[in-house]
Amino acid sequence: MDNLRKISDSLYLVGADDRKISLFERVYPIDNGMSYNSYLLTDEKTVLFDTVDKAVSQKFFENLKAALDGKKLDYVVVQHMEPDHSATLKELMKKYPESKIVCNAKVAAMFIQFFGECLSERFYEIKEGDCLNTGKHNLNFVFAPMVHWPEVTMTYDSTDKILFSADAFGHFGALNGKLFADQVNFEKYYEEDFCRYYANIVGKYGAQVQAVFKKLNGKEIKTICPLHGYIWRKDLNYIFEKYENYSKYLPERHGIAIFYGSVYGATESAAEKIACEFNSRGIETLLLDVSKEHYSKIIAACFNYPNLCFASITYNNGIFSPMEHALREIVAHNLQNRSVSFVQNGSWAPASAKLMREILENCKNFRFNENVLTIKSSLNSITENDIKDFVDSIIANAGPAFC
Ligand code: FEO
Repeated sequence: MDNLRKISDSLYLVGADDRKISLFERVYPIDNGMSYNSYLLTDEKTVLFDTVDKAVSQKFFENLKAALDGKKLDYVVVQHMEPDHSATLKELMKKYPESKIVCNAKVAAMFIQFFGECLSERFYEIKEGDCLNTGKHNLNFVFAPMVHWPEVTMTYDSTDKILFSADAFGHFGALNGKLFADQVNFEKYYEEDFCRYYANIVGKYGAQVQAVFKKLNGKEIKTICPLHGYIWRKDLNYIFEKYENYSKYLPERHGIAIFYGSVYGATESAAEKIACEFNSRGIETLLLDVSKEHYSKIIAACFNYPNLCFASITYNNGIFSPMEHALREIVAHNLQNRSVSFVQNGSWAPASAKLMREILENCKNFRFNENVLTIKSSLNSITENDIKDFVDSIIANAGPAFC
């Protein structure tokens, strides 16, 4: 039996949830499943927007068949070729032999890479700004290169003011029987994974997100249909503002995120003492153990906080490996505009602060605190005043970020 979901009189969600998945893209831990959204517009012509991951292909094909209700499928708009949206394309085109693949040249090239030349004669190539009339609806194509793949296309339905936004504005988590973000307590249950999704999937490409915003400027958008997560029909400014901030690497919170890598507890204790000192001054802190937290949570925290402190033991004359991994991911995700401080620990040759800084010097506009807190083996090597002085130096280095 299908699980077709009606969005409006002419638009259906024909995608499906995968609640068994535990690692999205085999990297990102997800506790609450994942939705793979595919949409069918039923106008004089029928138009499908993207397909789904293989894991939910059976449900997708059942839903599509029900939504078409005997009509033929005219167009398949391919906005993104990553296999979580394209894995079922070839099978789809076989099932619906009259349909055209509406796509740009980069999608067409990737389509051939994934599936071979067998369906090339069915490409209907679009260019930036092209419009496809389907009867009552006009579909305007807005290319969104590197948000987060080069071929990505968004589609603006100027008739119903709907933006089909590809991966943008998506989030981790299944829909679980609901359709719209306003049907759940989004801030409480989904905001954290909305940020984690953005920071890790799209975060590297802030300039490209800004470029798409410029193209969309002036278009009235009443609904956003992303390829993952809930559909937005209310409070669109809430997510537009988030994307505006995230894409400019502007933190949404005040205070400091402190990350520690500790084997026997001394570095953890120092990090905790620093957090306590900030707390006693009324400053918000987040304290995360890099050995325990997946790096995607660390990346999300770094996008959220203006001030970052990294505390690591010296390990094999280097950085503690989970910390080193996290730092390299921060660089890979193009984080910018942060104030950064370091705590190092070493029983004979503390060196991790210098090495951590060398990695983060690859980030743009990082302001480094020259005052490094050095521990030798245990907290016996420092005093309460050392902690207070260190916190003073973090605040001085941060400047107005703490205001
Ligand atoms: Fe959801 Fe970039 O794929």
